This record gives sequence, C-alpha cells and structure tokens, in this order.
Amino acid sequence: MTIFRCPLCGGPLWEAPQGLGCPRGHRFDRAREGYVHLLPVGRKHSLAPGDDKAMVAARRAFLDKGWYAPLREALAALAVEHTGNDPVVLDAGCGEGYYTAGVREALLAAGKSPHAAGFDISKFAVQKAAKRCPALDLAVASAYHIPVADEAADLLLNVFSPLAIGEFRRVLKKGGYYLYVVPAARHLWELKEVLYDAPYPNEEKETPYEGFAYETIVPVSYTVHLPGQEDIQALFQMTPYAWKTPGAGKARLAALTELDCRVDFRIHVFKKEA
Ligand SMILES: C[S@@+](CC[C@H](N)C(=O)[O-])C[C@H]1O[C@@H](n2cnc3c(N)ncnc32)[C@H](O)[C@@H]1O
Ligand SMILES: [Zn+2]
Repeated sequence: MTIFRCPLCGGPLWEAPQGLGCPRGHRFDRAREGYVHLLPVGRKHSLAPGDDKAMVAARRAFLDKGWYAPLREALAALAVEHTGNDPVVLDAGCGEGYYTAGVREALLAAGKSPHAAGFDISKFAVQKAAKRCPALDLAVASAYHIPVADEAADLLLNVFSPLAIGEFRRVLKKGGYYLYVVPAARHLWELKEVLYDAPYPNEEKETPYEGFAYETIVPVSYTVHLPGQEDIQALFQMTPYAWKTPGAGKARLAALTELDCRVDFRIHVFKKEA
C-alpha cells in the first residue's frame, strides 16, 4: 500500500510489473531498494537535485552516532501525543530517514499502527532511507508538487527541509498536526565561531500560516562533545556551511581535535484548522 499518487495525473497508483502504474497508463519504476521515483523529468532543475551523495553520507554518519537523538525523541513524543491509533505520517524532505524511521518506531512502540511515508527530492537520500527501514513508504518527489491526495496525512513532519506551506496545507487532514523543525538562535554556534570571523545568530521567527493554528514551540537545546575530526567533519559536511566557508575557516576546522558545540532546535507545532 502506498499513499503516493501519479505525479502526472493525480490518479491512484497500484503495483504493475517492476513498479507502479496509474489508470491512465503512466508507469513509474520501483528501485531495487523499494522506493518509487515520482519526480517528472520536467520538474528536475538539475540532473540530480537535492542533497548529493557526499552530504547524504555525512548526514547518515553523523545521525547514526546519536548526536541528534534528543531531537528524534522529542519529535517521537509529539507524534505519539498528536495522533490516533492508525495515523498516516508523511515526512517532507525526509533525507536518509533518521526521523521518519524513529517516529514510526515510537508510534509502533506506543501500540499504534502507523503508515509512515516520506519523500525527498534527492534520490541518494531516499535510497538510504529505504535501506534503513524497508517498511517506509518512500518516493523521490518535490515538496512543491507532493504526489499525494488532498488530506492524506494525519501528521506531517518537516525537519530542516524546504517549506512548501500551500502543499503542506493541502495534504494534511483537517485537525492534523504539522511538526516543523527549524534551527534556533544559537544552533551550531561554536562551529560557526570556528568557521567565520563574525558569526551571527539565526533569526527566531513565529510566522502564522494561513489555515494553521499555532499550538506551541518545543525547544530542544543541548551541547554535543564531538571527540575528533570524523564527527566534526561529518557535521560540517551535512550543513550548508560546507559550500560557503572560506578556506581559512575550513583550515581552522581541520586543525581541531575536538569540539563542544551547541545544538539548538525549535519544533513548531501547528494544527490544521478544521
Ligand atoms: C537539511 S536536509 C534534512 C533532511 C532530513 N529531514 C534530516 O533532517 O535528516 C534537507 C533535505 O531537503 C531535501 N530537499 C531540498 N529541496 C527539496 C524539495 N524541493 N523537495 C523535497 N526535498 C527537498 C534535500 O535533498 C535534503 O535531503
Ligand atoms: Zn497518471
């Protein structure tokens, strides 16, 4: 069973030889790892959009060490609190599936029967998510054209991924919850102090979105002790700083033997209005 629909005509998808098909005859391949590719060629802005292989590998290496486990636990607790017995969960920009799989496990552990789905525009990320947890319903797709029906999801997650609020409103059921994780003011502050001469804190905003009611903001803030270059570089490579840091900053980072670094998240909890 999949919650995904045909990205070309919106029709339902069902199993066809080697993949999925819709009633109008559109066909989509299912990869060996189990995910489907639902990004029409015309909507790709590059040959391989989204995070590249190296970024996905860095994120997998870093997350699997557990450095962001408190965020995963906080999301899992909110997911359990804000869903019924058999929720459809959709992770927008799910990356390599760390939070998608974690939320699914927590819902199962709470005695629920979730259908956990996720999509990302990066094929490399979705591939890794599918290997992490074959039970996830996964697709390569864009947040700006989410190939799922209106009001298909009970819970929507977005962890550091593009905000496509109109699409998010469309795919979420009335009364459903949207958990939106953004970096807070001092996120990765000590890393930024090494990389830049004059780092600036992130802006903290509370933006009301039409059709959503603000429930609460849950802060998740702590310090990680990264014991060596392996973890320091994995963290650096999974951030946007990897593309824009001048050589001097990279050299300072490469000289570190350890780093105590603040991680500072805010989970914005929204409820879709009835
Ligand atoms: C910072 S990563 C976060 C990934 C994951 N949520 C996590 O926290 O581990 C941002 C993700 O958004 C994806 N992305 C970028 N543009 C996208 C789009 N238009 N639609 C869906 N995903 C997109 C990237 O490929 C990347 O995996
Ligand atoms: Zn179709």
